[in-house]
Amino acid sequence: MTESLTVRDNRTGTEYEVPIVDGTIRAADIGKIKAGEDQPGLAVYDPGFVNTASCRSSITYIDGDKGILEYRGYPIEQLAASSSFLEVAYLLIHGELPTKEQYDTWVHNITYHTFVHENVKDFMQGFRYDAHPMGMLMASVGALSTFYPESRNISDADNRAIQIIRMIAKMPTLGAWSFRHAQGKPYVYPDNDLSYTANFLSMLFKMTEVKYQPDERLVKALDTLLILHADHEQNASTNAVRSVGSTQVDPYSAVSAGVAALFGPLHGGANEAVLRMLKRIGNASEIPAFIEGVKNGNERLMGFGHRVYKSYDPRAKLIKKAAEDVFEVTGTSPLLDIALELEKIALEDEYFVKRKLYPNVDFYSGLIYEALEFPPEFFTVLFAIGRTPGWLAQWLELTQDKDQKIARPKQIYTGERGLTFTPASERWA
Ligand SMILES: CC(C)(COP(=O)(O)OP(=O)(O)OC[C@H]1O[C@@H](n2cnc3c(N)ncnc32)[C@H](O)[C@@H]1OP(=O)(O)O)[C@@H](O)C(=O)NCCC(=O)NCCS
Repeated sequence: MTESLTVRDNRTGTEYEVPIVDGTIRAADIGKIKAGEDQPGLAVYDPGFVNTASCRSSITYIDGDKGILEYRGYPIEQLAASSSFLEVAYLLIHGELPTKEQYDTWVHNITYHTFVHENVKDFMQGFRYDAHPMGMLMASVGALSTFYPESRNISDADNRAIQIIRMIAKMPTLGAWSFRHAQGKPYVYPDNDLSYTANFLSMLFKMTEVKYQPDERLVKALDTLLILHADHEQNASTNAVRSVGSTQVDPYSAVSAGVAALFGPLHGGANEAVLRMLKRIGNASEIPAFIEGVKNGNERLMGFGHRVYKSYDPRAKLIKKAAEDVFEVTGTSPLLDIALELEKIALEDEYFVKRKLYPNVDFYSGLIYEALEFPPEFFTVLFAIGRTPGWLAQWLELTQDKDQKIARPKQIYTGERGLTFTPASERWA
């Protein structure tokens, strides 16, 4: 028996039967409900898409109440413990784990596409000395579409595949150069002998040494962070990628829209905001006054709360563990003590408990990034590099989904109608 919903329109007394498929009803079926033949169909009002599914997807599963996150069915805890970022990227894009041969080819291809055209370097160097690295990343990934005009041919599977490899390969190069730029240091070319994450660290930190040798514990911690950020279903930046991608634009342009969305403080910018908040608090004795301010609505406790997770964000647990590993190498930070104390208080305080506000992925990631000597402006770039395979997997799914249409939401018009225009020359006479 098919499940359905019976709706009675009290304006007309008419009853409608609306099919329920996968726990959802189709908005188009609601649109058939009309107060009269010449009246517009009923619509749903959902600013922020709080309860609206925009697609069917088989990439990432989240159960926000239970704190579950799975990529292609594999729990995030297992992937973080035993996989690598590139293997997770393969999994997200291809839908299943690679064989040894598939993995080797994938890693080889990504490694050999890390270089960018020299002109990319030239225009990146043209940014102001204090350009925000996210602005540089957004512009330069979008600009890659001009280097690969064939990327506009999104209906060709081989073409899609090569652009995906290029983007995963080149994001660390663009990200690292945006970092070097702010420091007035020469850009470092990729070192294809190193792993993906070790090469990224090399492009960030290499100076005069012939070969950069990163601490393997830091490589592992950063790789784990990239895995934890790799996808998160229909969040704001993925929605931006899908929305822009729905116009059938090339994937570089679609991903640059994702980078733009991630830049916002309520999304990827939150870890930067967390660190600034911890520094402003400065001392554990200031925490009670700070918490009072949050409860009075003066500001938010950054790194707490999530649209989907209404229990502990599973990524936050893993990041807390990675933070401990990093601090073993770098030495601890007084800000960690403030963070731990804030978390302890917030987890017991009725205000936070009642609203189901728990630490999210950004609460501890900023501390790790700081310990690795990244400036706060750079944190979101790391998030973007991690999220790139997720954006691309979602984009790929979109391009093959027959149900998808150009994203074009409805509105409820609240403005004036039918006014008579008087030219400026008469109005200002
Ligand atoms: C992530 C976030 C945008 C989700 O927002 P949301 O699902 O729309 O939740 P709402 O804004 O409706 O908040 C629900 C209630 O909790 C409160 N709240 C939410 N996050 C809060 C926070 N971090 N600190 C204090 N109060 C918070 C709201 O004030 C609201 O309270 P009210 O019901 O008394 O008005 C929000 O929790 C937030 O701003 N967090 C801080 C920024 C952050 O860490 N972002 C990273 C996300 S990964």
